[in-house]
Amino acid sequence: MKKLYLLLTILVLSACGAGSHKFNVVPYPNEVEFHNGEFCPIGATIKCGPDMDSASVKIAEDFGATISGSDGKGTIEFLHDSDIKDEAYVIEVKRNGAVVKASGFKGFNYAIQTMRQMLPVFPCCTINDSPRFAYRGLHLDVARHFFDTDVVKRYIDIMVLHKMNTFHWHLTDDQGWRIEIKAYPRLTEVGSVRKQTIVGHYHKSKEYDGVPHGGYYTQEQIRDVVEYAASKGVTVIPEIDLPGHMLAALTAYPELGCTGGPYELWCTWGISDDVLCPGKESTFEFIENVLDEVMDMFPSEYIHVGGDECPKVRWEVCPHCQARIKELGLAADAKHSAEHYLQSYVMTRVEKYLNAHGRRIIGWDEILEGGLAPDATVMSWRGEAGGIEAARQGHNVIMSPNTYYYLDYCQGRDLEFEPLAIGGYLPLEKCYSYEPYAPSMTPEQTKYILGVQANLWTEYVKTEEHLQYMILPRVAALSEVQWCNADRKDYRRFVESMDEMCGLYESLGYNYAKHVFNVRCNIQTTEEGKVLVGLESQGGYPIYYTLDGTQPTQASTLYDGPIEITQDCVLMADVFRDDVATRPLKREFNVHKAFGCPVEMNTQPHRRYRTNAPFGLTDGVRGIENHNCEDWIGWNGDPVDVTIDLMDQKECSSVTLGTILNKPSYLFNPLAITVSVSSDGESFNEVSNVTYPYEGPNDPDGLKEYKLEFAPVQARYIKICAQTARELPSWHVKHGRRVGYLFLDEILVK
Ligand code: ACM
Ligand code: ZN
Repeated sequence: MKKLYLLLTILVLSACGAGSHKFNVVPYPNEVEFHNGEFCPIGATIKCGPDMDSASVKIAEDFGATISGSDGKGTIEFLHDSDIKDEAYVIEVKRNGAVVKASGFKGFNYAIQTMRQMLPVFPCCTINDSPRFAYRGLHLDVARHFFDTDVVKRYIDIMVLHKMNTFHWHLTDDQGWRIEIKAYPRLTEVGSVRKQTIVGHYHKSKEYDGVPHGGYYTQEQIRDVVEYAASKGVTVIPEIDLPGHMLAALTAYPELGCTGGPYELWCTWGISDDVLCPGKESTFEFIENVLDEVMDMFPSEYIHVGGDECPKVRWEVCPHCQARIKELGLAADAKHSAEHYLQSYVMTRVEKYLNAHGRRIIGWDEILEGGLAPDATVMSWRGEAGGIEAARQGHNVIMSPNTYYYLDYCQGRDLEFEPLAIGGYLPLEKCYSYEPYAPSMTPEQTKYILGVQANLWTEYVKTEEHLQYMILPRVAALSEVQWCNADRKDYRRFVESMDEMCGLYESLGYNYAKHVFNVRCNIQTTEEGKVLVGLESQGGYPIYYTLDGTQPTQASTLYDGPIEITQDCVLMADVFRDDVATRPLKREFNVHKAFGCPVEMNTQPHRRYRTNAPFGLTDGVRGIENHNCEDWIGWNGDPVDVTIDLMDQKECSSVTLGTILNKPSYLFNPLAITVSVSSDGESFNEVSNVTYPYEGPNDPDGLKEYKLEFAPVQARYIKICAQTARELPSWHVKHGRRVGYLFLDEILVK
């Protein structure tokens, strides 16, 4: 990519008048009309009209400095226009110059972001742009790993480049308290340093690094960041996560907990059972005193007060909490426990306090449990369901579903090439594909969707380089969801703008992920039962492939249209570019008697794990260790029950289920499999029936096959039922609390 930016620089020097009309702005403007001709802005004179505020004049002049040149012609004129909406802007480019209009700083700033990306040559055009959503957020967790204010400011710069306007700063958690509170000095003296940090994935590791990790922001530093963000049009919303995720505060002030401690900051990840004790009045005194200082530092209308992942086990046995429950007359009902209502009491009381000071609360979607505080805005993170329900109840919503916007999830399929991550799989295309208005919402309900946000939790992110890798270019995809009207989105156009966007990242010194430059594939089964693989490359680079699992070279077969798979093979495909090192695409295919055949799903897999259902069960593609990738189809409720139409009478003598075991992620073996066959699809004869014990705690995780053999039989239809380990085995730490899954990549019939 370095070379690419060099190329861009050369273009700046030479391309004026060359007639190229690339327009790679992200997020793409909502209205743009192109005209003939172009304007070279390098060396243009910047003019600012009367009525412009000083901040707008300054950014206009700063932009002018970035395009200075000796022999420039023409002008870029900035004009205040009070008829233009807040955040909107207009750019008119003619051959002799450009005019930029907005009604205030934000509009001018966004116009400048657009022009930064249009460099080096502006096509003559009229851009009339404004955002779809008013709330365009990005979150950063500085509790799991601390990042200093310079890193945070650069994070905000990245937001501005993508026209985002709200920075959600997650400042406190079980592993560290990062904000100075003068009334409670131990919060940072004690609560900002943990003894050490777990090494490796917390599901598997028991090893710690022995190195203390700490850091916090002084109030002066916080104010400096808030001011810096404001100067760029970004509002900072602080999060003080309560009443759960409070172990750092409990460690500093053990009297805040139900048991009184002693407590110790966590050195690993997960959910702590120790939380604030809402039975004691002094706990509310603490919360209010902290929030007083927080409000002093943060002028934002909204304060995020968490509310997520608060186990109730301490409250259930705490005399103070139980007395409070009694005093308030809280009682369990069919929907919630008394303790859930106690949490609702906490959130409502905190809301009342903040409302009295002219502020409003945001909370994670758990705040729905036990009833929402009257004015609360819900940040929907466990998928979209919480957001949909909150909108139904007439509450404002910020959609931040983990399935689309948890940027701590892996962005590549092959985990061996990714930095250690919490899990999940969130490729760029998935980030791009999100539509915040769920089909089940009425138009009235959609009005409550304030906007969209992505979150970066930093359990495994320790450096700025890694941090930028996790967000770039996925926030570019997010920015189009936040900014662009649904009909303006176009993944292919977006992907093709990534050369320029990544060139810009490169020039700004940002680290970014390069998966977007790898070959993409699309596997389809046809009505005739063929399996076809379509390949695509960013930039239209020629694709070379092999089918024997060897690394492709430019001497390999040149791709010229969908590849039909007819025998067992390992497809590898790649492009060859000077500017970026790509990673070859790899897919292993197994051909068998059900290969390419239609599958009827008699029960449905879990909605998160059925991207390629049902054809993925017979497309021949074998799964890889990343169970979140689209190779896998996962059931966790009903047993697997599918019928495969072999499309002809065929002799069969075995069925093999390709599965993946991952016990910490609740992926288990089938507990029973039955195979039945039929010649008419109506009456089935059972040919095999096997039961299996639970895999034990020490059985290895990974890919595993379950094969059933039977006497050869003629069949047109074959029905496979498999019992999932819905109830986890008694030795499992989540026994009784989570349900088990059965994941299949393929049903091989031989
Ligand atoms: C969350 O991820 N606990 C909001
Ligand atoms: Zn208590």
